[in-house]
Amino acid sequence: MPQIAGTEDFEAHLDRAVALDARLGGVAQVLRAIAVASIEMSGLIGLGRLYGRLGDSRASTNTDGDVQKELDVLANDLFVSAFKRAPVAAVVSEEMSEPLVLDPACLLVVAMDPLDGSSNIDANVSIGTIFSILPVLADANGAEAHFLQPGRTQIAAGFVIYGPQTSLVFALGSGQTQIFTLDRRAGRFYQAVSAPVVASECAEYAINASNYRHWDTPIRAFIDDCEQGTEGPLKRNHNMRWTGSLVADAYRILLRGGIFLYPGDQRAGYMDGRLRLLYEANPVAFIIERAGGKASDCLRPILDIVPSAIHARIPLVFGSPAAVELVARYHSDLQFSAEHAPLFGKRGLMRL
Ligand code: AHG
Ligand code: MN
Ligand code: MN
Repeated sequence: MPQIAGTEDFEAHLDRAVALDARLGGVAQVLRAIAVASIEMSGLIGLGRLYGRLGDSRASTNTDGDVQKELDVLANDLFVSAFKRAPVAAVVSEEMSEPLVLDPACLLVVAMDPLDGSSNIDANVSIGTIFSILPVLADANGAEAHFLQPGRTQIAAGFVIYGPQTSLVFALGSGQTQIFTLDRRAGRFYQAVSAPVVASECAEYAINASNYRHWDTPIRAFIDDCEQGTEGPLKRNHNMRWTGSLVADAYRILLRGGIFLYPGDQRAGYMDGRLRLLYEANPVAFIIERAGGKASDCLRPILDIVPSAIHARIPLVFGSPAAVELVARYHSDLQFSAEHAPLFGKRGLMRL
């Protein structure tokens, strides 16, 4: 089976970007390293149990107290090795409590979630690797300081999704989001979708609804209104999807629109939700914005937030712009939140 005629090869795409702007040379090298490592990841994930017990829990936990799976650690080691062969000054990872200094003379740092969707490894559901590439700060006091920049300063960011297809989703420099898919026969990535655009309207939401009782009023109000369908104030039937892998929900929303929400809630330790700003929210917000979508912490654009710590969590809402703006309205205007829905009486009395 031949490649689709005229489909651009990943290497050629990067060469062209660097020819247009030589300052992207270093970041292109980092992207090439990510692509090479992800091909190895794709191969071993595709083998599943034939390779080993990748989904088994280890005795160790990561910085958030999550039990580490074999594949979390393997992926971390594989990508750290790749970054040692690229111009990377330091790496922050979900699986390492401190930044790892590689070559302090280099001008780029990388924050990564080496394996996103760990609970789905054994379920044979799509999982991924998320990455954020930042410029070093000239006056940084210690390695950590390089990472405490708002996501707006990312030079490139994105994720690899290991699913029925292995795809590399990224935005580079000031460019739009691109999707390259691995041709497993050739061991190379080819452009699959050029500059996807997130649909402006949405009729599909992604949220872990089992947390309903822990949510604050504005999130409950928004989801109540989605569930009301054509009989409610949104006047539209909504569908729901929740994969448990941020990369899979983000990929779907890129391709067909929708909204993703992981808000803060009342559970102990979940005040700022579950997802991490540096290596989950920032890279996803970057590729969603570069595809015409929006991403917020319910109110503020994710990319404007200055991180307080390298492993800081953040409430995350992203997807179709109209829907993300609507969620902000439910939060900024509590009267709107209370009165908007037909459940007004109940909501107004019981929840505010
Ligand atoms: P990770 O596997 O890197 O810990 O990330 C899992 C994340 C994300 O992929 C997903 O959207 C979310 O956690 C699922 O959380 P719940 O299990 O609370 O639904
Ligand atoms: Mn993750
Ligand atoms: Mn992870």
